[in-house]
Amino acid sequence: MSLSSSSQWLVVIGLILPAFTHGILYPRESETRERKLLDGTWNFRIVPFLDQDIGFREEWYKKPLRSTGPTIPMPVPSSYNDVTQNRTIRDHIGWVWYDREFYAPSRWSGNNQRVYVHFGSAHYAARVYLNGKNVLNHTVGHLPFQARVDHLLKWNEKNLLTVAINNTLSRETIPTGSVTIRYDKALPNGYGVMFHEDFDFFNYAGLHRSVSLYAVPAAHIQDINIGTDVDFSPTHAAHVSYKLAIESSDPSLTPLVKILDAEGKMVASHQGQLNGTITLHDFKLWWPIFSHPEPGYQYTMRVSLLDGSQKEIDVYHERFGIRTVRVKGTQLLVNEKPVYLHGVAKHEDYDVSLNEMMMIN
Ligand SMILES: *[C@@H]1O[C@H](CO)[C@@H](O)[C@H](O)[C@H]1NC(C)=O
Ligand SMILES: *[C@@H]1O[C@H](CO)[C@@H](O)[C@H](O)[C@H]1NC(C)=O
Ligand SMILES: *[C@@H]1O[C@H](CO)[C@@H](O)[C@H](O)[C@H]1NC(C)=O
Repeated sequence: MSLSSSSQWLVVIGLILPAFTHGILYPRESETRERKLLDGTWNFRIVPFLDQDIGFREEWYKKPLRSTGPTIPMPVPSSYNDVTQNRTIRDHIGWVWYDREFYAPSRWSGNNQRVYVHFGSAHYAARVYLNGKNVLNHTVGHLPFQARVDHLLKWNEKNLLTVAINNTLSRETIPTGSVTIRYDKALPNGYGVMFHEDFDFFNYAGLHRSVSLYAVPAAHIQDINIGTDVDFSPTHAAHVSYKLAIESSDPSLTPLVKILDAEGKMVASHQGQLNGTITLHDFKLWWPIFSHPEPGYQYTMRVSLLDGSQKEIDVYHERFGIRTVRVKGTQLLVNEKPVYLHGVAKHEDYDVSLNEMMMIN
């Protein structure tokens, strides 16, 4: 019985995995990478409560939102619930629409560049359209996502980016919630107010983090995975392991991994391997604040992709700290020393709410 259900689970994972074999690097600038923020004032509209499909039916994504009805300005990133003084917008459950126009730098056109549109987060489910084409859908409100768009960008005129977002919580969402209609004698017969239930904080929604265009070289570093382990015995050593994912059709490109200290000085390097472990004997640990005179010490892993003549095709800088974390009995140990946590899971969103006061007690 349990065997068959776990093997079914494996089948499901196997089907999902190919799309998630690597993560998304934060869209950070480097010697070879450029980012254009699309934050600022977007156009915004909520859909009528009783006609959730109207935007898709009338294809609002095919032209600027202002040409299909009234819009209001909406800052991105923000929670749209918090911005206006309009209760209908604050308490809206269902689809909302955002759009904005932008220019794509023409130096990014051509075969040497890949351009992605990157979202830091859109709560909860999003459908993204570029110049009228549905480039991706994403669910789960707190995770970044991106789509490659260089084939859809216009280089000599404005581009239109449209995002439809649905904040409805259900048994399948994270966090879970359910929508109930509360009927009220004050409302006409059959009318009610929809609200989220089984849910203990306000369901803030919208484009919660930055939106950007991100240009990387065609052959590029796709993902960097860093792990650290520390040997606290008298030999005293830190083992920094790394795993790289490279997107390239050219097998002659080789990775170069350098570890730089906080001052930018190189302390170790490795060439030619996608996976490896670098051992440091003279190193600084990452410590939590208040537990060390120099807390939060970070190294940088500078990863580059070199061609046959050692020219850097792509570069990415990823910061990391060297530390260990483990639980011993009722203690949490960081670098084998117990730490005292001042607050755990304090998710209430109002400073002086009762729940938060109880947490502090
Ligand atoms: C509040 O927003 C709704 C939906 O966009 C709109 O129909 C209504 O007119 C707004 N109310 C005010 C007072 O602006
Ligand atoms: C989106 O909104 C509709 C209407 O409110 C709802 O029925 C649906 O389950 C929501 N979720 C997703 C992921 O589309
Ligand atoms: C997004 O979702 C809609 C509705 O389910 C679907 O028709 C469309 O094909 C999806 N788009 C992508 C890019 O997967």
